[in-house]
Amino acid sequence: MSEKISALILAAGKGKRMKSSYSKVLHSLLGKPVLFWVIEKAKQVADDVVVVLGHSYDQVKSAIESQNYDILLARQKNLDGTGGAVRDAIGFLKGQWTLILCGDMPLIEIKTLRRLIKLGKKTGTGAILVSKTSQPGNYGRVWIENATAKKIVEYTDLPKGVESDIINTGTYFIRTDVLKKMVANLRANNKQREFYLTDIVEMLAEKSRPLKAVFIDLQEALGINSRKDLVSASEILRKKIIDKHLSKGVSIYMPDTVWIEADVKIGRDTVVMPFTVIRHSVKIGCNCQIGPFAHIRSGTKIGDNSVVGNFVEVNRSVLSEGVYAKHLSYLGDCYIGKWTNIGAGTITANYDGKKKHKTKIGKGAFIGSGAILIAPVKVGNNSVVGAGAVVTKGHDVKDGEVVVGLPARPFKKK
Ligand code: UD1
Ligand code: CA
Repeated sequence: MSEKISALILAAGKGKRMKSSYSKVLHSLLGKPVLFWVIEKAKQVADDVVVVLGHSYDQVKSAIESQNYDILLARQKNLDGTGGAVRDAIGFLKGQWTLILCGDMPLIEIKTLRRLIKLGKKTGTGAILVSKTSQPGNYGRVWIENATAKKIVEYTDLPKGVESDIINTGTYFIRTDVLKKMVANLRANNKQREFYLTDIVEMLAEKSRPLKAVFIDLQEALGINSRKDLVSASEILRKKIIDKHLSKGVSIYMPDTVWIEADVKIGRDTVVMPFTVIRHSVKIGCNCQIGPFAHIRSGTKIGDNSVVGNFVEVNRSVLSEGVYAKHLSYLGDCYIGKWTNIGAGTITANYDGKKKHKTKIGKGAFIGSGAILIAPVKVGNNSVVGAGAVVTKGHDVKDGEVVVGLPARPFKKK
């Protein structure tokens, strides 16, 4: 039987360099909190996942709980360093091995974690992810000998004239029983008066059980400590997401102007034109045209062969197959049946100042230019709403009916 792996994600820190009233790990990265990127990766490589929370405990806890991740939450009582975080979570670790990750390192790749795990298991004790750079910045400095880590010195404790071009990414894979012993022996004898997890590296080297050093690209190790880091990470991920869609048969023109968030699905032969924003978890079918200048917001599903054109915002809505909404519309909280045409400037007035309401438009309908549909309202199959008509709330349009005017009423030939 293969030995089990527990992932331990450190996310108790304050993150003061963000200058924010919100927890650092909840800041959105392409529509998904920084921490969720790490949790989702951890779940793919580990048998169980523990997250250590501390600062803004209630805020982060309720954000995690909204996702049904099936993970354990530990609490660090005093924010006394990364070593303290591991100490306070140690009782939650069930696996024979522990993969320690930072909650602020969303760019780490699954294939890298698999490599770390494989090499760590071979040594019997474990391994650490490091990176080589000429600009080590605020990272902890690592000293390597015979491909193993000897010692880590934090940036703030670095004596004058001492330097290393290898940095600690804060990602470790280690036998859980060894980790327990080492963490129990940590002391806070440094400038920040914190318990540094990094001190276990030297303790292990002294016991002739050093961690193997596994090198990765610095970009993957980017920790989100400031707004600038958040923007850098967004750009890296944004490009990756665009490349993924391109490789799956979606055309995206002037990709540097297109913002597509995480977990979006787009079918083949769909064309995304410049200056388009597609938010988290949106689903778009095959052979659609989206944009230029379209804003497709979360909770939206667009069927095959549809067109959402310039200056159209779609929010929490379902557009069935072959819906055309080509110009200047707001479609919010609505369902639109197959092959319905939404004329230029159509607005679903979904908000009455207190609550959001739904609009249902049937199939094969024709909504004229500049129509306003005041929700809650239903517009029937194969019906026609004349240009400029205002369909008032509750005054449903029947199947096949033609309505015009303000308020909209059935059209009668004189
Ligand atoms: C830490 C490492 C450093 C490494 C860097 C990589 C230590 C002492 N230093 O420094 O060697 O180069 O990460 O990004 O480990 N955290 C807690 N509880 C705490 C303090 C921090 O859970 O009391 C969590 C934070 O939420 C964060 C992670 O640990 O996710 C790293 O903490 P941070 O304060 O960002 O450490 P760095 O100074 O970046
Ligand atoms: Ca950090």
